[in-house]
Amino acid sequence: MSALLLVAGVVVGVAFVFHHVVVRGKRCVSKAKLHGKTVIVTGSNTGIGKTTAIDLAKRGARVILACRSTQRGEAALHEVKMESGSNEVVFMQLDLGSLKSVRRFAETFLKTEPRLDLLINNAGVYMQGKTEDGLGLMFGVNHIGHFLLTNLLLERLTECGPSRVVTVSSVGHNFGTVDFDCLNTHKALGQGNSFTDVLKIYCDSKLCNVLFTHELAKRLQGTKVTCYSLHPGAINSELARNTSSLLQTLMKPVTSFFFKNTVQGAQTTLHCALQEGLEPLSGRYFSNCTVRDVYPKAKDAAAAKKLWELSERLSGLA
Ligand SMILES: NC(=O)c1ccc[n+]([C@@H]2O[C@H](COP(=O)([O-])OP(=O)(O)OC[C@H]3O[C@@H](n4cnc5c(N)ncnc54)[C@H](OP(=O)(O)O)[C@@H]3O)[C@@H](O)[C@H]2O)c1
Ligand SMILES: *[C@@H]1O[C@H](CO)[C@@H](O)[C@H](O)[C@H]1NC(C)=O
Ligand SMILES: *[C@@H]1O[C@H](CO)[C@@H](O)[C@H](O)[C@H]1NC(C)=O
Repeated sequence: MSALLLVAGVVVGVAFVFHHVVVRGKRCVSKAKLHGKTVIVTGSNTGIGKTTAIDLAKRGARVILACRSTQRGEAALHEVKMESGSNEVVFMQLDLGSLKSVRRFAETFLKTEPRLDLLINNAGVYMQGKTEDGLGLMFGVNHIGHFLLTNLLLERLTECGPSRVVTVSSVGHNFGTVDFDCLNTHKALGQGNSFTDVLKIYCDSKLCNVLFTHELAKRLQGTKVTCYSLHPGAINSELARNTSSLLQTLMKPVTSFFFKNTVQGAQTTLHCALQEGLEPLSGRYFSNCTVRDVYPKAKDAAAAKKLWELSERLSGLA
């Protein structure tokens, strides 16, 4: 009996330590204050975007919540103000699945806001479909929308340097590829609708985030703008909302124990946005608040350049 209790005690203890050390991961330790600075967080009405916005607002930044749904965006505006105790929070509508909406957002922002110090490309979807402009949904929202947004805001970021562009990718980029033939014919990274197709295309779009950051850093050399991509961890968020409800039910025990909450999930984004002295690491990829090496395919200069040029055409920039 007492042996059983001992075993149970050890199991609970190990689980506790595992959860509090490994699952939680490192925290952003920067004490940076952001009074007088302006930041944009895309997809900040829920998930880690919202907790990132709350943290930045607490540090004194003027925070622009760039969200696609006016209803969800305004609800988040209220919540972010309440939780941060700051009134310097603004909602501006942005649908990354519409090139017109991205252009309209940038125009409004540039007209009404004099500064931009931090651009956090956080929004993401895990779902098949097409954007308004006929692009694959995950390619269009996760990559092209952020590509266009960043380019339209680059001049303002440059004027306000030192400034940063932080793009939320995923460890899943390791399983991704960029099929340029498919992009050229279908404006999408893949065509299928099966469970594995959707997963693969999501990973492909996250590889685009890493390659985009790699190429952006090169183009920003000599300016005071730096950029970073990152894996936030496995997080209990709404990202899997479009997967089957059976899968979601089966995953529930796993996600509640092994996944980070959204405050823990925001830490690597905050690290990339705030940590002093990261500038020499511009273009690199982070995870658990630590810079990481990536596979050759995720720092392939030729692929990154090719993706940039294709993105210029597909977003109407070139
Ligand atoms: N959760 C994880 O385990 C995990 C792991 C690795 C990487 N990530 C990445 O982390 C980022 C944040 O995800 P999350 O986990 O916080 O997911 P989430 O809870 O689903 O939040 C995603 C956010 O993106 C927004 N969004 C989706 N489509 C958009 C569009 N067309 N235009 C503007 N905003 C749009 C959503 O708005 P609506 O609410 O209106 O849809 C929502 O605010 C994503 O880039 C994701 O790929 C997540
Ligand atoms: C994150 O880093 C901390 C501190 O180095 C470590 O204890 C933890 O296991 C790491 N977590 C993950 C998921 O890598
Ligand atoms: C996922 O989204 C697609 C496209 O909007 C929809 O047709 C499908 O029913 C959704 N699936 C689930 C399980 O939510």
